Amino acid sequence: MAGGRKNLAARRRRECARRVVGVARTERHGASQNGQRGGGPTHAPMRSSRPHASVSGATQSSLIGRRDILSRLLVGLTPNSTGHRIGIAGPAGIGKSRILDEFFRRARAQGAQVAHEHCSRADFLRPLSLVANLARTLTRLRGALGANPDSVAVLQRFLANAKARLAALTDAEHRGAVIAALSDVVAAISEDGPIVIAIDDAQWAESASWSMLAHLFVALPVASGVCVIALHADTKEDATTVYRQAFPTDNAISEMGVDTLWLLPLSEEEIRVLCIARAEPRAVPSTILDTLVRRAGGIPLVAEALVDRWLELDDAEVLPPLVSRLVSARLDRLSPSAYGVLETVAVLGPDADLRAMEWVSLLDRASILAATRELETTGITYFSESTISARALWTEAVVQRASTSTQRLLHRYAAEWLQHVMATRGAYDHRRHLAIATHWLEAGDPVRAQHSLSGGAETLAASGFVNEAAAMTERAAEIAGPLDWRTSALGRLDRHVVRT
Ligand SMILES: Nc1ncnc2c1ncn2[C@@H]1O[C@H](COP(=O)(O)OP(=O)(O)O)[C@@H](O)[C@H]1O
Ligand SMILES: [Mg+2]
Repeated sequence: MAGGRKNLAARRRRECARRVVGVARTERHGASQNGQRGGGPTHAPMRSSRPHASVSGATQSSLIGRRDILSRLLVGLTPNSTGHRIGIAGPAGIGKSRILDEFFRRARAQGAQVAHEHCSRADFLRPLSLVANLARTLTRLRGALGANPDSVAVLQRFLANAKARLAALTDAEHRGAVIAALSDVVAAISEDGPIVIAIDDAQWAESASWSMLAHLFVALPVASGVCVIALHADTKEDATTVYRQAFPTDNAISEMGVDTLWLLPLSEEEIRVLCIARAEPRAVPSTILDTLVRRAGGIPLVAEALVDRWLELDDAEVLPPLVSRLVSARLDRLSPSAYGVLETVAVLGPDADLRAMEWVSLLDRASILAATRELETTGITYFSESTISARALWTEAVVQRASTSTQRLLHRYAAEWLQHVMATRGAYDHRRHLAIATHWLEAGDPVRAQHSLSGGAETLAASGFVNEAAAMTERAAEIAGPLDWRTSALGRLDRHVVRT
């Protein structure tokens, strides 16, 4: 079963590579037949706004986007590079491990050797587990035999013997000997070519390991290689805590720069390409593709889970359990004001400018700005024009979790705010009437919704916008359902129509 899944994943990866190369080639030739396979209308991937100069080979193109991050990693391998200590952080499923895979492939192609450690929960509790795992991996790399035999002996003792590990934990001299031995082995390996030391899921690393490895990382001669630490973090601040331990810059052991990269969600175009590749050989109808992209929130893991569910159950609407858990866990970890801002954005929709946010969320401006920064770094919200927008994945989730009373209250404030805007700013916008009415309905106040709609239809009709007025009346009928406002609004509308 697991093997089958692996094969499937491998096949998908190969297909993804073919697909993306196909897209790149077609784009280079200006043709438009991509995305068009038999079986109904399918959505062709949109053109990426980025140049495609970097898309040059089959397998290297299977990574979608992230060219900037990849090149910053590769810079670490170039001679005289300064950026040889690199952190990559971001939330779950954003693509940290994927980018590392791609980097390893490129680094090996350039003759580098890769020592790759993947931390797990169990490592967290084992003293110096990361140092031990890395020591084991390093001693197996090509060139390690060229190290001083004493160094190899120190490491062998350290690995074989729990007492030696305990000694290294508690005694500075032992610790120093292990660090020196590791540095010696790394130096021997790097004589054969550059070395990449990469630690993935470093949030699980046991913390005493960092103080030892920090010395090793900094001792790695520039141009001999690069150390990359990838870790799961919801905010940049969380990531900084680990980087400070692994890559200290505030003392004499380091004058070297540290490059920390924060992975943002992929763009809609990139997610589109990813979904198409994942679904192959099945073609994705464009409406389904739009839904998948909208719901993926820019997170590759979510996009893949949504596509898989659609392939399996023909359902693009319901979130797979994996995605619901991921979304829930991240919402639980938001600060209270970030959560409040997200709830408010979900209610205000396109009207979520700063003033509206203040009015509706009851938070002060400083708190809103701090919360917005938090939401932006995690890719949950983004600024567009002067408003704050949130990806559907998140707004739908907060709306689902909110109690009825919270929802009603927020919609009431939103309706009051829009009424206030209309009364004080004057500029007429008939969409606002509909928005106000919708908020009143959601606030559980259909009578006010009725007033807003009939007022809106009246204003429109009086200004000669007969069709728009009729459309609003129509829309109002849909919204208000059985209420008897319809007759009164239509009655007034008819009078205006007669008059104009
Ligand atoms: N840029 C990308 N291009 C193609 N697939 C990606 C990309 N980023 C992530 N993926 C895929 O999304 C899934 C989650 O990515 P992963 O690297 O495991 O996330 P993380 O390590 O950040 O939790 C994986 O199946 C991965 O192959
Ligand atoms: Mg990972």
